[in-house]
Amino acid sequence: TTRMIIDCDTGIDDALAILYALRTPGVVVEGITTVFGNIDVAQAADNTLRLLALANPGYEVPVAIGASRALVRELTGFSTHVHGDNGIGGVQLPSSTQRPVNETAAEFIVRLANEHPGEIVLVTLGRLTNLSLALDLDAELTGKLKKVAVMGGTIFKPGNVTPVAEANIWGDPEAADRVFTSGLPVLMVGLDVTLKTRITSEHLELLKRFGREDCRDIIQFMDESLAFYFKFYREANYLINSAPLHDPLALMAALRPDLLTCRQMKVRVEHQGEHTAGMVVADLRAQPKVGEFIEVAVDVDAERAVGIFLSAFM
Ligand code: BDR
Ligand code: CA
Repeated sequence: TTRMIIDCDTGIDDALAILYALRTPGVVVEGITTVFGNIDVAQAADNTLRLLALANPGYEVPVAIGASRALVRELTGFSTHVHGDNGIGGVQLPSSTQRPVNETAAEFIVRLANEHPGEIVLVTLGRLTNLSLALDLDAELTGKLKKVAVMGGTIFKPGNVTPVAEANIWGDPEAADRVFTSGLPVLMVGLDVTLKTRITSEHLELLKRFGREDCRDIIQFMDESLAFYFKFYREANYLINSAPLHDPLALMAALRPDLLTCRQMKVRVEHQGEHTAGMVVADLRAQPKVGEFIEVAVDVDAERAVGIFLSAFM
């Protein structure tokens, strides 16, 4: 079994990633930690608790609330145009009786990493603020996490918030630079691969027709929340009835690295440039000198990835 912590800003694609993890045999979600981003951090925690109630994993999944703002930068707003006012496309999920734990996200990550050294797979689906704060709390954390799969960044494709920056990196570039140069075993799953990995309305039809009986409520949630996500992607990216599975792909890749083609790259994150803040600067020279090596996904077997995602619910 894989012990996993999911750190996220529970929007629509984060929700799909969480539901996938909870429905995957062999994965034990040890906790979900939240961060500001798509919505504020309290809403992210509330959405997470509601999703846990919806998925009913059969074991307790603690939820820890994390950072409400970036390490250095002022908060500039949320991505409600992408994910809806409540972060999950306006879908009203029943409330949960579970409460968040009395630990911050960073404290939670550090405690679990120390309880299970070398075992925890951390999947980050939002800003890297919580992980950066965790590195402050435990200088030896880098050797205690088995893997850190990061949804974020882009190397060869344009950004999605600015011409060069992807949202999760742009939202806290200081934290991202800290994480990417920390020596943590990072796998960066960015727009280079997530934009190719799309769920479509045909896929939703398949789920509605052939979905498992005990996944009915989950599938209904997916159908309703994705209607909102599709609308954004149609207006902003001219995608017709489809949307990228950013966060689910990062989570799946943490479990099945063979879905991706990866390259070791030395990277830094720009955090000063007026037009380039949040850009992942990869040193692609023959003898790279700038930054630390991380693993970067450059290609994906998208069809297989989407198939694996769907089959968790069928
Ligand atoms: C990332 O930004 C967020 O809006 C999504 O949830 C995803 O994590 C994509 O750039
Ligand atoms: Ca996210």
